[in-house]
Amino acid sequence: MSSSGKNTQDGPSPGREELGELYRRRLNRGRATLGEMFGGHIETRSQGAWVYTSEGRRFLNCGGYGVLLMGACHPTVIRHVSEQLHRHPVATRVFLEPQAALAADALVAVAPPGLERVHFAGSGAEAVETAIKMARTRGHRRLVSTVNGYHGKTMGALSLTGRSVFQEPFRPLLPGVDHVPYGETEALEKLLSGMPGEACVIVEPVQGEAGVVIPPDDYLPRVQELCRSYGAFFVLDEVQTGLGRLGTWWGADRVGVTPDALLVGKGLSGGVVPVSAVVATPDAFSVFDRDPYLHTSTFSGAPLAMAAARGALAALHEDDLVERSRVLGEELLPRLTEIARSHFGETVREVRGRGLLLGFEFDRPGVAGDLLIELVEQGVVANHSLNSDFVLRLTPPAVLNRSETDFLYEAFDRACRLRAPSYSDQTEGDSPHA
Ligand SMILES: Cc1ncc(COP(=O)(O)O)c(C=O)c1O
Repeated sequence: MSSSGKNTQDGPSPGREELGELYRRRLNRGRATLGEMFGGHIETRSQGAWVYTSEGRRFLNCGGYGVLLMGACHPTVIRHVSEQLHRHPVATRVFLEPQAALAADALVAVAPPGLERVHFAGSGAEAVETAIKMARTRGHRRLVSTVNGYHGKTMGALSLTGRSVFQEPFRPLLPGVDHVPYGETEALEKLLSGMPGEACVIVEPVQGEAGVVIPPDDYLPRVQELCRSYGAFFVLDEVQTGLGRLGTWWGADRVGVTPDALLVGKGLSGGVVPVSAVVATPDAFSVFDRDPYLHTSTFSGAPLAMAAARGALAALHEDDLVERSRVLGEELLPRLTEIARSHFGETVREVRGRGLLLGFEFDRPGVAGDLLIELVEQGVVANHSLNSDFVLRLTPPAVLNRSETDFLYEAFDRACRLRAPSYSDQTEGDSPHA
């Protein structure tokens, strides 16, 4: 057993060097290098807002790619999942099974009105694939996505994800895909008017991976209106924004839109078992009704995953997490903006946030990554943005208490103070959102 190793279920766990080597040999070399860049810590446990390492350090987890609105290991989720794990984790898929039906019912109860039918999957990208297939069954074979939009990395979803660095190595992707600018509808209207009845349009209420890009309030209603006018299938991808992340149950709620299909993921897992879903209108769903084997996967709707989803939805209700996300977001945004500006000045191009999805855009690439590393040094895990090198993203859990919020302010202040001086005398780069 190595010096820093601790016993796990299977015996001693490897120390830093051993684990890095094992990653290099068996998993992914680049991932091993990244782990070292972020301090070489080995995470072994998480609870609430914190993640703990094998060496006894703890980090406030404001990352997690938006999964952990309820924090880690929420007791309600753990109770649902543990009970189900010991009782009946996978189904025969021959008999009917209650967890899937009850999870679907609980999800529909909080979904925008008119969305009544549910297909469960595992990842956000699988939910996107399902929506693409739903649209095709209704004759919509052209796909319209947005510039810098992020929808996942399976082949169909990747065709919609608007960033060439992820697409290039895997071409050819799906044919018939257009990307239009996000947040305005002129190009969308022009495109849709040339393909009446043919398009499937997919948008995010706030572009998360593009760097927390918030559209004008009339954007989604206008997208919906255009989809209706030109007979397009409207998919709203709330994999990152849904279930309270924006301080409302859905981005759709804020502006009163109802898509043909709403995509849910991340938080639906309760941070425990991968779960995603498409919640659709009965019309959109109808072909799947006719043949239940048309679109399936082995673990879709498995009782263990469904228990996690039920637990997650129960936790959101019990702890009033959607409202807490709104209130905490309203506190964090101005305070963190003030801290970032006080150190970085004009290097901070913009700070954007809705609920607990916060993005700090800098005027050159590199700052966000640098700050990310320093934040880890100071005890906070944050994320970069997959489709923007300019934006540091924070997705704190809604369960932060006063002392945890203060810890975040202090760590953010120290990290900014330490890193800002290196950027005080450089010239600006080009930003995608300049
Ligand atoms: C809006 C959106 N859609 C889809 C996905 C893909 O989800 P997954 O990584 O679970 O496949 C993501 C992931 O970040 C996302 O943010």
